[in-house]
Amino acid sequence: MAILNALDRHVALVGFMGAGKSTLVGPLAERLGREGYDLDHGATEIIREQGMERFRAHELQRTLFSLEGRVPGVFALGGGAVTTEQIRDELARSAFTLLLDVDADTAWERSRGSDRPLAKDEAEFRRLHAERQPVYRAVADGVASDVDGAVLAAAGVHHELGSLDRLGELVPGDGPVALVADATVMGIHGPRAQEALGERLVSTHELPPGEEAKQVRVVERLWSELSLDRGGSVVALGGGATTDTAGFAAATYLRGVPWVAVPTTLVGQVDAAIGGKTAIDIPQGKNLAGAFHWPARVVIDEALLETLSERERRQGLAELVKTELLAGRDLDVRGAAAYKAALCLRDPHDRGVRNWLNLGHTFGHALEAAAGFDLPHGEAVALGLLAALRVSGRDDSPVRAALDPQPVTVDRERAWEALLRDKKRSGETINLVLLGDDGPYVEARPAGEVRAALDSLIV
Ligand SMILES: NC(=O)c1ccc[n+]([C@@H]2O[C@H](COP(=O)([O-])OP(=O)(O)OC[C@H]3O[C@@H](n4cnc5c(N)ncnc54)[C@H](O)[C@@H]3O)[C@@H](O)[C@H]2O)c1
Ligand SMILES: [Zn+2]
Repeated sequence: MAILNALDRHVALVGFMGAGKSTLVGPLAERLGREGYDLDHGATEIIREQGMERFRAHELQRTLFSLEGRVPGVFALGGGAVTTEQIRDELARSAFTLLLDVDADTAWERSRGSDRPLAKDEAEFRRLHAERQPVYRAVADGVASDVDGAVLAAAGVHHELGSLDRLGELVPGDGPVALVADATVMGIHGPRAQEALGERLVSTHELPPGEEAKQVRVVERLWSELSLDRGGSVVALGGGATTDTAGFAAATYLRGVPWVAVPTTLVGQVDAAIGGKTAIDIPQGKNLAGAFHWPARVVIDEALLETLSERERRQGLAELVKTELLAGRDLDVRGAAAYKAALCLRDPHDRGVRNWLNLGHTFGHALEAAAGFDLPHGEAVALGLLAALRVSGRDDSPVRAALDPQPVTVDRERAWEALLRDKKRSGETINLVLLGDDGPYVEARPAGEVRAALDSLIV
C-alpha cells in the first residue's frame, strides 16, 4: 500500500528532467526543518566523462547510501533513478516518494539548451518523458508541483475543489467506512458524501452540532455504534468539533483505526483538521482528554465552505490572519493549511515549533475563560493577536484592518487569573509566542507587561 505521509520518513523527490526537483529540495527541506540533498548534483559531468553505465552505478551507490541514513531528510533524485529496482525498493522502505509533475512541453522548455545529455534531441526527449511517466506514477506516494503542494502531500492533505465527490477513492485502502458528521452538516453535505463513498459506506453517525459533540458520552456512543475491524476507516465530515470527536473515537476504538478528516469550516480547513491532535472536553476544561492520531488523509474541498454562516467564517478568519502573521505573507486556505501542516510534520507531538501556532492564544484563552466561554474563540484570538503584536513591539494595524477586534467587557482579575492558570505560572515572567522580523519566537516577558497588554483588550 502507498505510504500516506512523511512522518518519520525521508521525502524523496522524483520526476522528469526540468520538473524542478533541484530547485524545490532546498525550500521544501527548510519548511520541514530537515536537511535537503540534491543527489543529482554533478550528474551531467559524470555522464559526460564516464558514460551512462558508470553513472547509474554511481547513482545507485549514492542514493542507497543516502536513503539508509536514519535522520529523515529531503532528497532530490535523478530523473532516471527510479528505473533501478533496488532504488525503488529502498524508496518503498524508507521514503515518502513525491512526484514533481511536469508536462513534456514545460520540461522541454526548461531543459533545452542545457548541457544535459538527455536533452539534446526533442523527439527523443519527449519519447523518454512518455516512457517514464508510468514509472513515476507507480512509485509515487503523492504528487505536487510547488512547495506548498509538496508540504501538503507530505502531510497527507489533499486540496481540491469538488473533492467531496471523490471521497470514495480518497479514503486510503478499500475497506469499509463509517461516516461521522454533526446533524447540521449531515443534512447539508451528508448525501453527497454518502454517494461518493458508495459501497464502502457501512454506517453513518450523527453528532450534536458544535461543542456539544465533544463529550465523553458522545464518544462512548460512537464506540458502541461502530462496527469496523482494523481494516475499516472513520470519516469525519464537519467542523473542528466533529473532527476532534470522531478523530478521538478513531484513536481509541480498537486501540486505533485510521481516520479521514473532511473539514467543512474555515477553522477546520486551516487549523483543526490538520496535524493529528484530537480531543474532547471534560468538566475540568476544554480539550483535556485526547490523543495524537494523524489522519490517514485530510480532504479539503473549499466548495463546502459556501454554506457556512458569516459568523462561523469569521472564526476561521482569525486563525487565517494568525497564520499570515506567522508566515510573514498573505495566504489563502491552501497556503495556510500548508503552513500548519509543515509545523506539525516538524513537531507532531507538540514539543517545539508547533507552539508558534499559539500566537495570541495566551491572551485569547484568558479572555474566553473570563467571559465564561461566551466569547467566540475567533474573537478572542483576534484580540489576542493585537496584544501579541503590541508586546512584540510591532504595528497591530494588519490585525485591526482584517478583523477589527473590539475590546470586551470581562472581569480583569478573572482574566489575569485565567492566564496565570493557563500558563501554570504565578512568577515574575510569562512565556509568550512573539513575532520578530524573522518570524515567531518564544520569550519570557515580565508579568507586569503581559498584564498591561491583557488589560488593554478589556473595557
Ligand atoms: N485539533 C485541533 O488541532 C484543533 C484546532 C483548532 C480548533 N479545534 C477545535 O475545533 C472546534 C471548533 O471548530 P469549528 O469552529 O469548526 O466549529 P464546529 O465544528 O463547532 O462547527 C461550527 C458550526 O458550524 C456548522 N457547520 C460546519 N460546517 C458547516 C458548513 N459547511 N455549512 C454550514 N454549517 C456548517 C456546525 O454544524 C456547527 O454548528 C473547537 O472545539 C476547537 O477546540 C481543534
Ligand atoms: Zn485557535
